[in-house]
Amino acid sequence: MQLPLLAPALLVGQVLGQTHDISRDDHAWAPAGPGDFRGPCPMMNTLANHGFIQRDGRNITRENAVNGLRDGLNFNPTLSNIMFDQAIIANPEPNATYFTLDQLNKHNLLEHDASLSRSDAYFGNNHVFNQTVFDETRKWWQGPIITASMLANSKVARQLSSKAFNPTYVFTLVTEEFSLGEVVAPVIAFGDTENVIVNRTLVEYFFENERLPTELGWTRREDAVSLETILHATDTIRNATRLYTEPINSLSKRKLGRNPHFG
Ligand code: HEM
Repeated sequence: MQLPLLAPALLVGQVLGQTHDISRDDHAWAPAGPGDFRGPCPMMNTLANHGFIQRDGRNITRENAVNGLRDGLNFNPTLSNIMFDQAIIANPEPNATYFTLDQLNKHNLLEHDASLSRSDAYFGNNHVFNQTVFDETRKWWQGPIITASMLANSKVARQLSSKAFNPTYVFTLVTEEFSLGEVVAPVIAFGDTENVIVNRTLVEYFFENERLPTELGWTRREDAVSLETILHATDTIRNATRLYTEPINSLSKRKLGRNPHFG
């Protein structure tokens, strides 16, 4: 992980009286060791593998999550706080102040069916990277640049496969919102958030290694990621998941009347 503008960042930190000093952190990649926790989120696993959050995957507090998402991916604190608020339900203890990566594994809480790189719980392990499932996903990513349309196609295809073959398939409207965020997440981390495109090599490397693709030339984005960034990108994916080709409001009564099946 390269840390451009390190000196100005440290200076700002000193001026603001912050104690967090990113220059002393060791962000070399290392896989989980024995007893370390990992979960269904390839990015949280990745941030743990790089030490942006605890390498053992335990006791992730609000401060840990906010700092880790900022230092690793340049997420702004407002966004990271929202994400932490959504994640804290993973810890079943009342008034919990932290969660662990393995608490994210609980099926149909945050973890859900039809993931891009994990098996459905019905078929086995729901949180470890599964190459077969990922191959099913990435066959829809045609070409070196993954577009919103390709991401949407892989999402819909995974859902169709789960719906057809998993008799316990569950995918609620809340799941849909989370899923859209997950599907667009590689664009947020590694791609062009305005045009919602991303280099396929970076995305495959990330999923398959749970590692930031620094050695492929990726660097942390300079512009901070905000909630607005995410909403723009998820809306683009949402629109791209539609299986009809006209704008949503183009169905007039006149056209309906001409439908050959219903007179
Ligand atoms: C507080 C922070 C986060 C938490 C608690 C979290 C939690 C989760 C959980 C529970 C899943 C599993 C959903 C499923 O069953 O498919 C997931 C999936 C995913 N997350 Fe995260 N996540 C966080 C941040 C991020 C960030 C910052 C990114 C990247 C920018 C990211 C990328 C992904 C991706 C790509 C998936 C989909 C994996 C798949 O479908 O196989 N996550 N996350």
